[in-house]
Amino acid sequence: MQTGAPGLHVAIVMDGNGRWAAARGLLRSEGHRAGVDAVRRVVAAAPELGVGTLTVFALSSDNWRRPGPEIAALLALFEEYLLHESRACAEHGVQIRVIGRRDRIPPSLASAIQFAERATASARTIELRIAIDYSGRDAILRAACWMLSSLEVSQKEFARRLGEVTHGGRPSADVDLLIRTGGENRLSDFLLWECAYAEMVFTSKLWPDFGAKDLEAALHDFASRERRFGGLPAAAAGD
Ligand code: FPP
Repeated sequence: MQTGAPGLHVAIVMDGNGRWAAARGLLRSEGHRAGVDAVRRVVAAAPELGVGTLTVFALSSDNWRRPGPEIAALLALFEEYLLHESRACAEHGVQIRVIGRRDRIPPSLASAIQFAERATASARTIELRIAIDYSGRDAILRAACWMLSSLEVSQKEFARRLGEVTHGGRPSADVDLLIRTGGENRLSDFLLWECAYAEMVFTSKLWPDFGAKDLEAALHDFASRERRFGGLPAAAAGD
């Protein structure tokens, strides 16, 4: 059910900004700013490594529980990125789309999202999906409620609805490779439906330290794995 740009769909849980900042005696918000630099590096490297869609977890719906100043700093960073980097993104073929809820974010961020999505709409090299106020469970629940009146729903139709409720506007795309930095080995409510058959790479590297070489190493690891989607290993398939 891969429907985004051609190429692999890589999803990243960008964990470790706070620890990166604390280790340097900096504010957490400065760790998040360094995290934006890592996003730039990874987006720049991704197309040549065969990535067609990159979905990054920028703010989970559970992150609203964090202290107000940290949330404010994050929202300001997103807005700054969307307003100031859309032109460069368009020039480099980066199509920006934001997934997640839009009814709880500040109006100025909602406008910046609209601006970035319009400015980069015709870019075709890579699709950068930024998940803001995103919850995989909530997306599935809302798509399910939407479908409730239908007696029978195919996975394809459900994925289409799921794409619509997360404001991506397109069918949700299966994730090929999920990377999580920061040493935690969990999904944290990210792309639950889309990760059904994702390969996972967990690294202790903190997100602001992550770069092109790390993405390349994760993709190398991914390439060595045999994806069976519930079938048999290729070697046994003829038995
Ligand atoms: C988790 O690390 C990270 C976040 C909640 C925010 C991630 C956001 C960015 C990297 C900025 C992305 C910006 C754009 C424009 C896409 P943490 O702060 O929980 O780290 P910790 O576990 O070390 O405390």
